[in-house]
Amino acid sequence: MSVRRLAEDQFQPAAFAFNQENAVWAEKTIKKYPEGRQQSAIIPLMMRAQEQDGWVTKAAIEKIADMLDMAYIRALEVATFYTQFQLHPVGSRAHIQVCGTTPCMLRGAEGLVKVCKSKIADYALERNAEGTLSWEEVECQGACVNAPMVVIGKDTYEDLTPERLEEIIDAFVAGKGSEVPTGPQIDRIFSAPEGGLTSLLDSPATKTKKKTGAKAAAETVALPPSEAAKPVSSDAETNPALKSPADGKTALPTEHPKAAPAKKDNTVVGDKAE
Ligand code: FES
Repeated sequence: MSVRRLAEDQFQPAAFAFNQENAVWAEKTIKKYPEGRQQSAIIPLMMRAQEQDGWVTKAAIEKIADMLDMAYIRALEVATFYTQFQLHPVGSRAHIQVCGTTPCMLRGAEGLVKVCKSKIADYALERNAEGTLSWEEVECQGACVNAPMVVIGKDTYEDLTPERLEEIIDAFVAGKGSEVPTGPQIDRIFSAPEGGLTSLLDSPATKTKKKTGAKAAAETVALPPSEAAKPVSSDAETNPALKSPADGKTALPTEHPKAAPAKKDNTVVGDKAE
């Protein structure tokens, strides 16, 4: 787990304000939440602040806390917990997030990190001399089938080689990042096999005809609803009507008919002693 701290004071701007478009959006977003739950808008608002300025500044965190009537520490907790929030200034053209989890590592992520070190900066979250590029290593981004991969902005670039990553970085430096195709960088569609299908090549010879009418109804077996997911417990916490343990308004549940009585030594009736 990485230690996540706010950027040093020298990088922090004195103030933060949403631009006009984002301010309207923020107001609408806050209203989506039920009365008294407006603080739930903190994540979308922080993400919007990051999209506006490139990273989440201390001023932005405090401004959003004020907008949502929250203590600064609560907003700081959110900003420092989620690694999606950049707490330091990142490259203005591209911030490259290299997946370093096992499948990507086995498929060559180390080579991608080397490219980032040579083309951008020796250390993660350090910007290049022009301030246009930065990089960091991140955990699995959910595209393991097409490992190794990187994320830039909201897009993924998959099936990478060091050479292809160099080309992609050059395109972003030249301001042509939007021209780079996203997703797999080799001949495959999404996560289908490279070069086309290798199995399930034949279409089924006959199609199963759907049965309808009385015959189908007669063959339908009525299954009782499963009880598997229902807790066999009479504990107060399992009462679905209880919204908050401390609200003092919701009645505690009556004894659950299926609850097994607990013994004083915490074993349940029916348990066999070894
Ligand atoms: S391990 Fe890299 S995307 Fe999952």
